[in-house]
Amino acid sequence: MFRVFVAHPIPLAGLRMLADLHVTVNRRRGLLPKAALMRRAKSAEALITLVNDRIDDDVLAACPNLRLIANYAVGFDNIDVSAAAARGIVVTNTPDVLTEAVAEHAIALMLAAGRRVVEADAYMRAGKYEAWQADLFLGKEFMGATIGILGCGRIGARVAEIAHHGFGMKILYHDMARNAAIEKDLGATFVDFIALLRQADVVSVHVPLLPSTYHLIDNKAMHHMQPHALLINTARGPVVDEAALVEALHSRVIAGAAIDVFEHEPAVSPGLSELDNIVLTPHIASATTTARDAMASLTAQAVLDVAAGKTPRNIVTAA
Ligand code: GLV
Repeated sequence: MFRVFVAHPIPLAGLRMLADLHVTVNRRRGLLPKAALMRRAKSAEALITLVNDRIDDDVLAACPNLRLIANYAVGFDNIDVSAAAARGIVVTNTPDVLTEAVAEHAIALMLAAGRRVVEADAYMRAGKYEAWQADLFLGKEFMGATIGILGCGRIGARVAEIAHHGFGMKILYHDMARNAAIEKDLGATFVDFIALLRQADVVSVHVPLLPSTYHLIDNKAMHHMQPHALLINTARGPVVDEAALVEALHSRVIAGAAIDVFEHEPAVSPGLSELDNIVLTPHIASATTTARDAMASLTAQAVLDVAAGKTPRNIVTAA
């Protein structure tokens, strides 16, 4: 029977689809150490992985029967896709079904940072609210402000749409390729990277993690941003130099940030949690029941396809 190792629990919507296969699910929460992953996955023909499962050539070598890695995520920087290809192993991801959830979370982070929702919540819980005051937790209004979308694929484009239709925001974007649809539908303007940093009131990051995007937002980039600007990151942590972000927020080079992903995930860089001008969420941008169930179904379908000798959808290749 086709053997599947699921490195961490995924929703039943996916697991139920695999009822006729030999499925082992690692039920323990937390990171699965590499040695344990290699041991437990060694006879698997398919592996379902999460973003914190690092699949390098050692892991691949330890799983000689492996034919598929179905990554329960749209990003796949946790997998050495070239090494997998060299061994004839197919890698799939879960695009589209999480676009709305991630885009909505980016907007939630923008609002939370701009309207100081988390700070204000802590203030209330600490019993500090004594009287209504005209300047209590003054924040930003987004209507008519400019959002700079870095990486205008599916998620970036959806953020642009919500920002434009919901808040009348002006859209600037930067990517390797032009996005004709958002230029036509939202009046979005393609600008170079530095111009985007200089002109945006909010910079929202949506690029994949690649050698070329590692520390794209570094100390220099943050100095190009306006002092009242906000940085939002729902993409991948290492795209932002987190030590530089701590410094920039501390010295008010930029006004605030809200991030869902971390450079050394799950660790948070020293100093970040102490700042009052950042909102932190634990990589939950796609965490809606709708998105997560659909991601589970997509990964399970990829497994079923490979088990049946078919080519699965959503095969990814090395960038
Ligand atoms: C989550 O980060 C994903 O890439 O889906």
